[in-house]
Amino acid sequence: MNDWKIDSWRRRRAAQQAEYADPRALEAAIERIRSYPPLVSAGEVERLRGELREAGAGRRFLLQGGDCAETLNDCTPDRIASKLKILLQMSLVLVYGTNRPVVRVGRMAGQYAKPRSNAVERVGDEEIATYRGDLVNSFAPSARGRAPDPARLLSAYQHSALTLNFIRALIDGGFADLHHPEYWDMRDFRGSPIAAEYQAVVQAISDSVEFVESLGEATGEPLQRIAFYTSHEGLLLPYEEAQTRTVPRRSGYYNLGAHMLWIGERTREVNGAHVEYFRGIRNPVGVKIGPTCRPEEAVEIAVRLNPERDAGRLVLITRMGADRVDVALPPIVEAVSQAEIPVVWCCDPMHGNVVRTRSGRKTRSFDAILHELESVLQVHEEQGTILGGVHLELTGERVTECLGGASGLTEEDLGENYATYCDPRLNYSQSLEIAFLLARRLNPSGRCAGPNGGIAGGEKLRR
Ligand code: PEP
Ligand code: CO
Repeated sequence: MNDWKIDSWRRRRAAQQAEYADPRALEAAIERIRSYPPLVSAGEVERLRGELREAGAGRRFLLQGGDCAETLNDCTPDRIASKLKILLQMSLVLVYGTNRPVVRVGRMAGQYAKPRSNAVERVGDEEIATYRGDLVNSFAPSARGRAPDPARLLSAYQHSALTLNFIRALIDGGFADLHHPEYWDMRDFRGSPIAAEYQAVVQAISDSVEFVESLGEATGEPLQRIAFYTSHEGLLLPYEEAQTRTVPRRSGYYNLGAHMLWIGERTREVNGAHVEYFRGIRNPVGVKIGPTCRPEEAVEIAVRLNPERDAGRLVLITRMGADRVDVALPPIVEAVSQAEIPVVWCCDPMHGNVVRTRSGRKTRSFDAILHELESVLQVHEEQGTILGGVHLELTGERVTECLGGASGLTEEDLGENYATYCDPRLNYSQSLEIAFLLARRLNPSGRCAGPNGGIAGGEKLRR
């Protein structure tokens, strides 16, 4: 890798970094993390690369999802299990409906750093630094709470390890409850016209899982060898550098703090520090592409990050906003295709669709999210490219943060359980519904098929 070094990013402009008052304390924390065992293995990272190669070609489908901002307090058995549960249930729906294996990647076990549009915010008469995620500072709105604290780096690393350890244990143990229909919470679908249809799909999936499990018992094969990968935004570069290692018998550098990392919309400058750091590691890398990204810029980023043109290396995660997809996405897809750089096209229908309610709360509407998904699918169909995956912000809890969905969540309902530290997330039933609708749209004649195929505007889908 010509002239790349583990710290060559330090000579570039690094956006969205924390300013630590005591650089020696930062260095000590980083040194400690360097000495800890890694969270994932290089073999797992390579396996994910292989699976993403297939997602790019349409033989698998990437489901990436989780919190906008994970918090250290979220590191409880219930919260981890419920997030894993919704992701696994969504993946079962997608596998069942599309006949394609799903690549499951959580925004979990390390999603602790947040880029911010504003560096400061007003609280009463005071102007204080904004919250940058539990990796950096405290959510508590005081000048003291918002000062970056190096001790958080160690704590975040340890909480990532605790989270991942529990995820691995649950999966190894079979997460057997998945085949009980009563473990699928269908309460919020009651009264909706599609409730019976969803229930029938859940019953069919439960029967299939049970059947496959009994086969596993009969043959003595461990059944639940489900692969589950972790990911987070690689934002705070000293922290990411500390997790970057070489391993015996493999060439190149791996970031062993997560299987996959992504570069955010605010830090994807071609000549910036983030692109510089990421070009040197073996992990699959995602890049968020918003509506202001010029097609030439997308090509430059793709060339820089994937010079070897490996199909499993780069995931372009487009997040245009439902109304801008038609104008902004086609030239980007066209330019990247013409440059013949293989990428996995992934749709993030969340980050271009944030709106504020009259009372100032951030929210997103379920219909705008579906609308973006539908428009992106249409663009790829027209361009002859493949949508290889989706990137969602979701939680397994019954939160009230996004509007709409089968339970018809309204602006008035948002106050009931609005719990996010950052962006609004799909709740349990909204997430499951997206999976049903997406499965149906990806395979209109498949086992989730409904009376009609489109997912535009939400309405068409639900009839
Ligand atoms: C995010 O994924 O939480 C995020 C901040 O996204 P983006 O970089 O696309 O704005
Ligand atoms: Co977000």
